Amino acid sequence: MAKDWTPSSWRQLPVLQMPDYPDPAALAETEKRLASFPPLVFAGEARKLTRALGEVAEGRAFLLQGGDCAESFAEHGADNIRDFFRAFLQMAIVLTFAGAQPVVKVGRIAGQFAKPRSSGSETRGDRTLPAYRGDIVNGIEFDAASRIPNPERQIMAYRQSAATLNLLRAFAQGGYANLDNVHQWMLGFVAGSPEAERYRALADKISETMAFMRAIGIDAENHPSLRETDFFTSHEALLLGYEEAMTRVDSTSGDWYATSGHMIWIGDRTRQLDHAHVEFCRGVKNPLGLKCGPSSDPDELIRLIDRLNPDNKAGRLTLITRFGHERVEECLPRLIRAVEREGRKVVWSCDPMHGNTITLNRYKTRPFERILAEVQAFFDVHRAEGTHPGGIHVEMTGKDVTECTGGARPILAEDLSDRYHTHCDPRLNASQALELAFLVAELLKKDHAASERQKLQAAG
Ligand code: PEP
Ligand code: CO
Repeated sequence: MAKDWTPSSWRQLPVLQMPDYPDPAALAETEKRLASFPPLVFAGEARKLTRALGEVAEGRAFLLQGGDCAESFAEHGADNIRDFFRAFLQMAIVLTFAGAQPVVKVGRIAGQFAKPRSSGSETRGDRTLPAYRGDIVNGIEFDAASRIPNPERQIMAYRQSAATLNLLRAFAQGGYANLDNVHQWMLGFVAGSPEAERYRALADKISETMAFMRAIGIDAENHPSLRETDFFTSHEALLLGYEEAMTRVDSTSGDWYATSGHMIWIGDRTRQLDHAHVEFCRGVKNPLGLKCGPSSDPDELIRLIDRLNPDNKAGRLTLITRFGHERVEECLPRLIRAVEREGRKVVWSCDPMHGNTITLNRYKTRPFERILAEVQAFFDVHRAEGTHPGGIHVEMTGKDVTECTGGARPILAEDLSDRYHTHCDPRLNASQALELAFLVAELLKKDHAASERQKLQAAG
């Protein structure tokens, strides 16, 4: 167990991005109630994810992590969850096929509610109010009452997470993810687009392979991996009072686990070595993510790795880099070299979203071509350094939103107002997400072909 750590030891340390609750007694009461609620996830599941991510760290699998920037109470419905899951499964199958490697599936979902903000307040006209910090903290409406942090929202977020997770478990294990359904994951509004055609061609190949396997006696009845999949949840562990309340001892191992989600991550704004977020995360055994932005310093990164993964266990720590498309070549190699020099085992994942946000027509947006460019640069740098480009981390939805510009069916600056629904950052819509998956698939295919060639040469 981590030395001198308790679920509340973070409270002694400086902490950023915490809401100012006007009624500390009400907050404490809420946290007490949460602590008595059932866990959302189990320790054994978190361990399974660590093992799967260990395979990614060793270069034998790929991580797909994605979902909303911020889940909202308003958008909580079965259709949204199903459409997200379909779009996500499509991406995953495209990547699995291309890379001929398992894809570890981790949603930003069932707990992704709390948001760090660049500014603590928001001004519109001549009014300034506290910033919106996610539905788990306060309301997005621009009025004074909505913006007051309300602890009761933590209970609502917990209950929404439980309901979402329940449906996701049913989808993942109850037959929806059966590979026989690969054609049915196509979303209506994506049909007719170039990537829909590519997807159909791939789905045809999979169906053909399934028919062949059935003929030789391998089918979804006798092989569970053909009819169900492992799907994990993740979110930024930002609201530490909530996280502490959801932290439990696992009775089999005696270790502490965050039971609010399978994987939790530390954001780019709260990764200070001696601050509260790092302190909290070091003590729980879940797989952890750490966002690394342009200000990440190689030596400091090694100290953070020491703190978060002192046993150098593969799969425990995923470094999620997010530099912006023009800065990958400047920022990524020095981090990779430090990690390699020190022999640290990490998963390298690329978040091509958070460094590529611009404002157009007063909308926060992300040009699709910059997102692609960051992913491409991430692969190029890893290839040059001889390390494994282990995954991508994206903000996406299964809906036909107009939040990021560009794509094969281009969204223009003037289209942004049509269906701009996000509660925080702009997300890829389902066709853009699929298009991105096909680009990553091309890159994975090249790497796969190169490693097969190497194997042949070594053998011959
Ligand atoms: C996020 O993932 O939504 C986020 C706020 O990212 P970052 O911490 O990298 O800015
Ligand atoms: Co975001």
